[in-house]
Amino acid sequence: MEVLVCKTREKAVALTARIIEKRLRAKPASVLGMATGRTMEEVYTNLVQSGVSFAQTTTFNLDEYVGLLAEDPNSYASYMRHHLFDHVDIDLTKTHLPDGMAEDLRAAAQAYEAEITKAGGIDLQLLGIGETGHIGFNEPFSALRSRTRDKVLTPATRQQNAECFGGDINKVPVRAVTMGVETILEARELLLLACGSAKANMIAKAIEGPLCAAITASALQIHQNCVVVLDEQAAAELMQREYFDLVIANENKWDEYRDLI
Ligand code: GLP
Repeated sequence: MEVLVCKTREKAVALTARIIEKRLRAKPASVLGMATGRTMEEVYTNLVQSGVSFAQTTTFNLDEYVGLLAEDPNSYASYMRHHLFDHVDIDLTKTHLPDGMAEDLRAAAQAYEAEITKAGGIDLQLLGIGETGHIGFNEPFSALRSRTRDKVLTPATRQQNAECFGGDINKVPVRAVTMGVETILEARELLLLACGSAKANMIAKAIEGPLCAAITASALQIHQNCVVVLDEQAAAELMQREYFDLVIANENKWDEYRDLI
């Protein structure tokens, strides 16, 4: 794992977007794993502004709420259209989200996994982190070998996401379909972005703590090609900060990104 700490939130967001942009320019037919949440909104804004083409790109989102129609303004399907798909040249038939309206959620989740496999697997998976330490909607105690399935959300996660539902936790669905931890780990490259002091404690635990199902983001420690991008606030509780900075300073591959670090 490489940990990149940027001076500001704006730089962390711009760096994340630039990494994605570079991958797309190098391989326009990339398979991208998409994430949602407020942090990602700015990443998508940057990507739209970059002008990079998505014409050949295939996407798979991490998760979707159970019981919300794709047209519902709070569905992640709407989120993706609003923040990215409506503003780029992507072929919508190449975009995928888990089906939270399926009668048989389990069968739909398995079909989603099959679609990912058929597309050749995910090249780059974008990730945020929830305040419970989740990736996707893999809440605490999700199996580290879990596959795409539906999960019950914790009250903490529903509270964190309530803002998008007019501040009313009762309007936030109780369940969601999410790629599993193992599904996520199968992506060839992982890129996690976290900003702000509310994420600092979970980031330190996920990066430097023990590998454990109680914090599913800790599973990233076993991935061979994982980059974590943070702003100063999100990095505030890291104990190995100096070493992480030293690694980045001595890796030539980051030279082209130094203006954003
Ligand atoms: C939701 C998503 C997660 C994401 C998290 C971060 O819970 N299911 O995949 O990591 O939001 O949200 P934010 O960026 O709003 O803090």
